[in-house]
Amino acid sequence: MKVKVGLIGLFDMLKFKNLGKNREEMILKSSNKELPYDYKVNELARVYHPYKQYLKIKDIKDENEDTKTFTLIPDEEKTLELAPFKAGSYISIYVKTNDNIVSRAYSLSSSPKEALNNIYKITIKKKPDGYLSNYLFNNAKVGDKLFATEPGGNLTYNKLRDSKNVIAIAGGVGITPFISMAKAINEGSENFNLTILYGIRTTKDIIFKNELEELTKNNSNIKIVYVFSDEKVEGYPFGFIGSELIKNYLSKDEPTSIFASGPEALLTYLDKELPLLKLEQKYIRIERSPISLNLESKEYNLTIHSENNTYEIKAKGNETLLEAFERNNLIIRAKCHLGGCGYCRTKLIKGTYVAAKYLKLKDIDKEFNYIHPCCSYPTSDMELEIFPY
Ligand code: FES
Repeated sequence: MKVKVGLIGLFDMLKFKNLGKNREEMILKSSNKELPYDYKVNELARVYHPYKQYLKIKDIKDENEDTKTFTLIPDEEKTLELAPFKAGSYISIYVKTNDNIVSRAYSLSSSPKEALNNIYKITIKKKPDGYLSNYLFNNAKVGDKLFATEPGGNLTYNKLRDSKNVIAIAGGVGITPFISMAKAINEGSENFNLTILYGIRTTKDIIFKNELEELTKNNSNIKIVYVFSDEKVEGYPFGFIGSELIKNYLSKDEPTSIFASGPEALLTYLDKELPLLKLEQKYIRIERSPISLNLESKEYNLTIHSENNTYEIKAKGNETLLEAFERNNLIIRAKCHLGGCGYCRTKLIKGTYVAAKYLKLKDIDKEFNYIHPCCSYPTSDMELEIFPY
């Protein structure tokens, strides 16, 4: 076989041939000053991706009878500044309840600019089955301390992927990532057209009414359409947010991105309705919440290795392994609680489990026997190694 070497290829070969010699020469010529202990890029990475953020509650505001907004600031003994975030992100918070430390992910309802002034806000709705939401709603007070992961999430605007025109479909407290986006557009840190279709039962259930009206008044790129399901209000659509309603707000000239966040009933309905719009998949982004699997409550024995300790704990077949860990005060790092981020990665030594369908286990995890306890339920006694947070 004849190999043709062009002029450029010849230079490359010469460069490659002299690589070792040139490197030696450069090392000899270089300063013998010690290398910096820390590099600027690492310092920056720590600001954007802190391992843990220590926070305290600065303010609690009633939004309506079952929803409150908690303003969080750094607990300055351990955290000096909050990590910046893109509008639409969430944080996973860890709260000491009466019994143990419990983690959950909540979208940030504040704006990216507020984070630069050391303020995060999360808005929480009391739910019949919401353990941490109900605890915070009923017990949290100003001054209480908690800690959190860095912000993250996929429900954020990306101008390379998303259209300039975004329809945000929100159900109930699912409005939180979109109020953050509306604030970001108004502040100038995001630049796209946002139409929020906000599904709620009645006028009494609207969260952020004044803020939304103020934002839409100030900025023609932000629109809000309330869609009431249980009350007829003049000038607003009545019913559910389906493809026929959404079509009225699609851009005529270019594709529209659809973002959605809200209760599972709304998202399941959208799973059927959105394909009718015939948009490319990249224009659709849905943020789901964890759903409990309807499994048997049979109890299993878990042997947990954590650093140099071994613990024997019980886990129920209808609770996630993460819930069982936290019930026993074994705290690991968990961010999305949806099987997507991989932060809760835990080594499976022995035993079987069933995972929620939204778990996306990477091939490398499968190969080395790592599982994601945030959405895995035991189906036998198990032995696991955890990595404490
Ligand atoms: S917390 Fe994200 S995968 Fe478990």
